[in-house]
Amino acid sequence: MQIDVASTAWSEVAADWLIVGLPEGGVLDGRLVELDQRIGGTLTRLIEQKDATGKLAELVPVHVPSGVAAKRLLLVGLGKLPDLDRARFEKALMSAVRSVSSKKDVKPVIALPDGLGAAAANLSVALAAEVAATAAIVGSVGQDMLKAEPGHFALGQVGVLVAAGQEADAQAGSDRGRIIGESLNLTRELINLPPQVIYPESFAERALAVAAELGLKCEVLDRDQLVAERMGSLLAVAQGSDRPPRVVSIEYRGAAADAPMTAIVGKGVTFDSGGLSIKTTDGMLTMKCDMSGAATVLGAIAAIARLKLPVNVTAYMGLVENMINGSSYKLGDILKARNGTTIEVQNTDAEGRLVLADVLAYAVDRGASRLIDLATLTGACVVALGEDVSGAFTNNQSWCDDLLGAAKRAGELVWQLPMFDLYNDLLKSDVADVRNIGGRWGGAITAAKFLEKFVSEKPWVHLDIAGPAFASSNKPYREGGATGHMLRTLVEVAAGS
Ligand code: BES
Ligand code: MN
Ligand code: ZN
Repeated sequence: MQIDVASTAWSEVAADWLIVGLPEGGVLDGRLVELDQRIGGTLTRLIEQKDATGKLAELVPVHVPSGVAAKRLLLVGLGKLPDLDRARFEKALMSAVRSVSSKKDVKPVIALPDGLGAAAANLSVALAAEVAATAAIVGSVGQDMLKAEPGHFALGQVGVLVAAGQEADAQAGSDRGRIIGESLNLTRELINLPPQVIYPESFAERALAVAAELGLKCEVLDRDQLVAERMGSLLAVAQGSDRPPRVVSIEYRGAAADAPMTAIVGKGVTFDSGGLSIKTTDGMLTMKCDMSGAATVLGAIAAIARLKLPVNVTAYMGLVENMINGSSYKLGDILKARNGTTIEVQNTDAEGRLVLADVLAYAVDRGASRLIDLATLTGACVVALGEDVSGAFTNNQSWCDDLLGAAKRAGELVWQLPMFDLYNDLLKSDVADVRNIGGRWGGAITAAKFLEKFVSEKPWVHLDIAGPAFASSNKPYREGGATGHMLRTLVEVAAGS
């Protein structure tokens, strides 16, 4: 997509849609006064008639305006300017882009509002331009790419309109926004594609291609290599599928060799049937999304590499299908994980932790100094926090605080849950070192306590993204299906460390 940053005069902006932010409060000022005059006071009248209120993400189209070159205006509510931040501006622009991209070959121009860094103290010009580019890229691509008549058409061209003198800041921001948007779409595409298209081998192929394009070192372990690496826990899950497993790692070195190596680890269950502890039809319906963690770490490392952040990061993806065949792993099986821990299987649907156990231990053995894992791990986390908030769990508060700070800057919602020792009692087994479920209560936490046993006390944060990774319905400001939730946070963590 072509993104043009310019400070063209209102009257001259050539666009199918000129997207203009309208602050809440009813007083026009700055460049809006000029625009209002150009179009014969239309803005003033819309506000007087209460047809345009400026409430966050409100959309008011103005067709065939006179006095400007743009074919149409789209007024988008910004809410109160002092409240305007990355997340709120994104909500507004995503709504606008989703609206205008319902037709093919549309060229919109997004005007950044006045008052950035002043009345809107929480949003800089650069950040606003970043949001504009990301919204243009993400908001115009839906989950319906295999439909004859898709609801959205990827934009070929978009303009970002700024006040004179802001061009350089806006250009830098929009360059970042493009990278983040394209990475989000990579993650979303992998999650949204159907499970007969995305399975461990095909996911690994895509990861290899992404790494090759960015010149990053990429390793793909096949089944024999996973046996040699003693990943007995991951392999047990994989053995019920006709599709062989893969573990992929991609390394990005943007800092000195002796700088810390951060591992980002993703659960990549390309389909979760539950195995012999089979899910209901309703429970299984969206389980193509169970590789969201892996897709998110792939998108994140692509973004981090393209942004050339001065850090060392390795992404690890544990790719399996949780299926049923004559060789499926069974209740009562005792597995031996890579780190020697024996695990009694009491529920084959608690498979994500079995996959991550071996991949986390592998990442530690390969020199990770600190880790973050992302997984659609438990329904219990969705019960606890709802569909829009991820759970965070840690063995190291200061590393978790870094992550929570990054999430805040990224405008993503995460809430930390406790990791008290007593939860370990719930994982005790009579026949092995640990069992793979913790019983009815505190399910998101017992899953995290299970994972903790495989990180060798390295600083680690586990993110349970089961709720936000995959949305059940469309909203004006975002498409249903894959969201790419937490990718921005991973980029912010890398940028901030
Ligand atoms: N992939 C699921 C968790 C999930 C649920 C993700 C809903 C996204 C939306 C996971 O593998 C699972 O099945 N967890 C079980 C654990 C239980 C058997 C201890 C669950 O949450 O029911
Ligand atoms: Mn499961
Ligand atoms: Zn699962």
